[in-house]
Amino acid sequence: MTLIRLNKYISDSGITSRRKADELILQGRVSVNGRAVFDLPMKVDDEKDIVYLDGEVIKAKRHFYFLLNKPKGVVTTTKDEKNRRTVIELLKTKERIYPVGRLDYNTTGVLLLTNDGEFSNFLTHPKNKVPREYEVKLDRPIADEDKLKLLKGVYIYGNKGVFTKIVFPKKNDRKFVIVTSVEGRNHFVKNMFKTLSYNVMSLNRKSYAGIVADVPVGAYRELTISEIKGVIKNYGG
Ligand code: URA
Repeated sequence: MTLIRLNKYISDSGITSRRKADELILQGRVSVNGRAVFDLPMKVDDEKDIVYLDGEVIKAKRHFYFLLNKPKGVVTTTKDEKNRRTVIELLKTKERIYPVGRLDYNTTGVLLLTNDGEFSNFLTHPKNKVPREYEVKLDRPIADEDKLKLLKGVYIYGNKGVFTKIVFPKKNDRKFVIVTSVEGRNHFVKNMFKTLSYNVMSLNRKSYAGIVADVPVGAYRELTISEIKGVIKNYGG
């Protein structure tokens, strides 16, 4: 049993947004177990309660949340016009799910996939500053002054980008670096380094929203309820 807000139940059915669902409730068009409700904060049990809109039963669809440890040579789309392997083909599920943001063809590591549009928007919206950690191999060691520039901000196609953290996990290897960013523009990490004439030789996303790739490369698992709730709790305000 999960108790969820009535407006979320209605928006999860795909009929309308949460805000519009509130309007429907106030208009008296929604009933639960045969009784009209006008109570906006009302919660329903998604297994037991029956929700009606204009007298017709509506069903919230189940949400799925996956973590895939993306291998190289796979595109982050649902379909590829060049017939390359897609991340969706790696998941043995009949549910229509979508990647949260994207990783490049040869980038490996944490990719989240879900059919919960609200959760996906939450993760990708820049205002929530959800961190992504990347392990990067560069073509040459990073100079100290460049590290500082990347932390202060550089301009990519006219828009400022920053790494919020840069660490060198191996003391004597400054070609190998772990960077953290809180935004997801396409090719963001590669473009950040390109502004200072570094080439990224390999890229692995170590974590997204604190969720790490704890399954083998190419494998996946469902997120736990506490991971999903944790994301909202940690970054939601
Ligand atoms: N930044 C990149 O440049 N590529 C990725 O795949 C992810 C982040």
